[in-house]
Amino acid sequence: MNCCIRGAVTVEENSRECIWENTKLMLNEIINANNINIEDIVSIYFTCTRDLDAAYPAVAAREIGIVDAALMCVQELYVKGSLEMCVRAAVNIETYKRQKDMKHIYLKGAQRLRPDIVNKSKIDAVAIDGPAGSGKSTVAKLISKELGYIYVDTGAMYRTVGLCCLNKGISLDDNEKIKEVLPYVDISLEFDKGIQKIFLNGRDVTDEIRTQPVAEAASKVAAIPEVRTQLVEIQRKIAEKNKVVMDGRDIGTNVLKNAKTKIYLDADVSERAKRRCNELDEKGITFDYDNIVKEIVERDNYDKNREVNPLAAAKDAVVIDTTGLTIEQVKDKIMSVVRD
Ligand code: DC
Repeated sequence: MNCCIRGAVTVEENSRECIWENTKLMLNEIINANNINIEDIVSIYFTCTRDLDAAYPAVAAREIGIVDAALMCVQELYVKGSLEMCVRAAVNIETYKRQKDMKHIYLKGAQRLRPDIVNKSKIDAVAIDGPAGSGKSTVAKLISKELGYIYVDTGAMYRTVGLCCLNKGISLDDNEKIKEVLPYVDISLEFDKGIQKIFLNGRDVTDEIRTQPVAEAASKVAAIPEVRTQLVEIQRKIAEKNKVVMDGRDIGTNVLKNAKTKIYLDADVSERAKRRCNELDEKGITFDYDNIVKEIVERDNYDKNREVNPLAAAKDAVVIDTTGLTIEQVKDKIMSVVRD
């Protein structure tokens, strides 16, 4: 049988790289979402809006290995007021499936074309990622309260595994020992008025995990794939049963790829260090500013450069630089994305 899958993506600028990169993104999503064997693609018709003429999108298809299909690129009919900077595709495949089972893909600004399709496959969740000190948890709590969702702090789970290793005297460089202890790490969460409490083998460790050694231990254990698999499973189960605002490092890119709203928060290192100093000051803890900066940079490096699910903005996340913004301003920006 022959079926046709539609795809559309908006492009940031009229350049070859941008057109090809976005076309590849769209084609790969079509292929993955529909489980397509590249050899089963018969033909692809591409259209570009009139403002995109720096490259043929078909080249992107060849570059990802679609070599036998017939490809065709044409300029789109111009209708006043319609979407700009947009590449569209109609992918014809041979399959035993039926047309009604095809998953059409609309990415970035093109999601506006078919909100019915886009929203059907998405869950009511707000995914917030970003580096330490970018303001994730403070703003996530406010957003969850406003939306009536529960707030899930995934960093607390990695901290709990880190705490467990520290308590057992396990070296954080000994991945094998850490993996051995995993079956005995029972993490459970409770939500009191939407706010999370975390338990390690039945003991409330919500406050105990908020120390610098535990944060460093968390970053180390978070690089171990087996640790991530165990914790991501818990995170997804919570999001299946509840509407969540979930924050962490890989929520938009991995844990909740299908979240309706994805946000990536960032801020200058100096601003993040100042926020951390203020927190310590409020708790009456003495600190050294340069040391705090060093710790933040080290943890960023570790979280961004690990092999499994590193800290990164999802391609469809809205990136917000919180440097110089108040929490209220950040909250308002996120709420307007949610409402959009
Ligand atoms: O957000 P936090 O400081 O509580 O997180 C502690 C560490 O846990 C962080 O340095 C990286 C890791 N982490 C992660 O790898 N993935 C997540 N989803 C959340 C946290």
